[in-house]
Amino acid sequence: MTGIKKIITDMSGKEASAELGRLAKEISTHDEAYYQNNSPLISDGDYDVLRQRNLVIEAAFPYLISNDSPSYKIGAAPSNGFAKVPHARPMLSLGNLFSEADLDDFLAGIRRFLKELTDDPSIQLEIIAEPKIDGLSITLRYEKGLFVSAATRGDGSIGEDVTDNIRTLKGLPFKLGGSPSPDIVEIRGEIYLAKSDFNNLNRCQALAGAKIFSNPRNAAAGSLRQLDATITAARPLKLYAYAWGELSEPVGITQWSFLEQLQVWGFKVNPLTRICSDYLSLIEVYNNIYEQRASLDYDIDGVVYKVNRLDWQDRLGFVSRAPRWAIAHKFPAEKAETIINEIDIQVGRTGSLTPVAKLASVTVGGVVVSNATLHNEDEITRKDVRIGDTVVIQRAGDVIPQVVKVVLDKRPANSTVFEYPKVCPICSADAVRDKDGVVRRCTGGSTCPAQVVERFKHFVSRAAFDIDGFGSKHVEEFFEEGLIKSLVDIFRLQDHGFQLRNREGWGDKSVDKLLAAINNRRNIKLDRFIFALGIRQIGQVNARLLAKHYITIGALRAAMVAASVKGSEALENLNSIDGIGPSVATDLIRFFNNSTNQALLDDFATQINILDFIIKKNSSSLIYGKTIVFTGTLQTVTRGEAKARAEYFGAKVSSSVSKRTDFVIAGEGAGSKAKKATDLGLNVISESQWLELVGDG
Ligand code: IVH
Repeated sequence: MTGIKKIITDMSGKEASAELGRLAKEISTHDEAYYQNNSPLISDGDYDVLRQRNLVIEAAFPYLISNDSPSYKIGAAPSNGFAKVPHARPMLSLGNLFSEADLDDFLAGIRRFLKELTDDPSIQLEIIAEPKIDGLSITLRYEKGLFVSAATRGDGSIGEDVTDNIRTLKGLPFKLGGSPSPDIVEIRGEIYLAKSDFNNLNRCQALAGAKIFSNPRNAAAGSLRQLDATITAARPLKLYAYAWGELSEPVGITQWSFLEQLQVWGFKVNPLTRICSDYLSLIEVYNNIYEQRASLDYDIDGVVYKVNRLDWQDRLGFVSRAPRWAIAHKFPAEKAETIINEIDIQVGRTGSLTPVAKLASVTVGGVVVSNATLHNEDEITRKDVRIGDTVVIQRAGDVIPQVVKVVLDKRPANSTVFEYPKVCPICSADAVRDKDGVVRRCTGGSTCPAQVVERFKHFVSRAAFDIDGFGSKHVEEFFEEGLIKSLVDIFRLQDHGFQLRNREGWGDKSVDKLLAAINNRRNIKLDRFIFALGIRQIGQVNARLLAKHYITIGALRAAMVAASVKGSEALENLNSIDGIGPSVATDLIRFFNNSTNQALLDDFATQINILDFIIKKNSSSLIYGKTIVFTGTLQTVTRGEAKARAEYFGAKVSSSVSKRTDFVIAGEGAGSKAKKATDLGLNVISESQWLELVGDG
């Protein structure tokens, strides 16, 4: 860039306008040279400086932003929100461990899974240890070495397109450096805001009378999810890269060499990352990182361990939504002391009453806390918590803060024992203890407004119907105004257009947006639908198990009705689902045989389309959907790995042979099961035939 750069705050509007014009031309020349002619005229760093300057001037003079500003030229996000993007490979989460003993179990589990490590304890298992950054995960897509798009994690399968925002990230390689790169490379990492930048940002926000962020993570999230990318540009977000998504060809053979490649490409990799070959060195790295925690300029909430060899990572695979080859060792929760001013009772969607301590506000680990859960009435008694008490509270990660214990020395003379209610504080129906549990529940069911409202909130939430812009406030207001009585009414809101448009603060635009978001969800996957119903004990994992097992809503409903008969095949079938125990089965049967719920499900059919569950992965495999049994000793892999591999290919692994078994894999020394299978005329195959079916790598 030519000429002396003037400090932006000293610029007049006229000067700013002239400079923006110049920058637009210059950036466009470089874009053409880079994207169309593949022959950049300046370095990536210099190009970034131009874009950055353009954005900063625009942030200072928003009225000068022109329609063809370089900030909006490439793939601008739609103005009514971020576009949704499916991830080519899901963005998964990590399991947690909290103690050194858990770490021992994690390592032992891996050794048990991989046969060569089981057979030869002297083989080293190298593990990479790196800080767990407390930020937001992001995936960056590069095609032919050029940055093309970026997306947030979202629900792990579908994220939001934040390409324009990420483009403003200082130091982001727009072009992968070093030797030629694969055609498609997706880099994953953590976006964060340094603690010092967070403090500066909050100072500026306070001066401007704007929102104060509670912690660097929230500030980073708020900064990234700005529809106006110029705001993101003015926030110094940073990135540590640590993983990959889709790759058109493998990169390296170890995690460590992958991290080296990341740096060659131009990404920052956390400098505290270490390679360890045993338990003791992992503990040493953990302790070392933990000790440095307070002095680091970014928040971390643990240490992540990853198996170094990528072929072993592949074989170890995943269990539900987390890898078997990696885990997060979380730091202990942060604690603080404060006073309980009051105890409130919250009513959940299944009627559960939860006592919540209303606290004198206190900062714990950088976050202001004024509520903490007391779990249930037995916990209040066990800890002898009284109103007026000074208590120790703790908070770990995103979980709700908890009351740990009372500081008895500080108990005031006038502390009062909390009388646990025997009726629902909202609808006054009896609140009854679960037969064999600690939870007291409101018996009001669908006549209790609190339960109904909570059910609505759950229904529209992200992991359920994920209706954009339908927040808790809308639920409460619509319910109060009588616009929604049953869950299905959400899909009839369009019939109340007039009433909606006349609500205070609402215009055509906001109503249209909400109705469009609702319409967008009229086709819903079976697992989401089951989860959205809010059946007791049916979280995302169980909902998915059920969807996978029954495939269609019709089959599920019929099976649940049939399963209400003791000794029926349907009941046996339900109980045979790995992960669904008898108490969950009872709740399911109760839900699906209740006439109000049956009417609700019939009513849904008039408004929405529940899509059959499709297992995409490997459905072409010969063992997909088959029930298989392993028996005898396998020579090449452990039983655990064989089972995991079979499940990966869509098979169900059972421990006993019956006429419903499709294949029996007979290892060495197979005895009675193999014989029974032969007697039943089933397919009995050898280990090598099995390997042919699933491949051995
Ligand atoms: S690896 C398949 N490494 O933690 C495993 N994740 O709790 C992919 N995170 O969603 C994750 N630092 O956002 C990995 N060094 C690190 C990390 C890290 C932070 C986040 C990430 C992930 C979450 C899981």
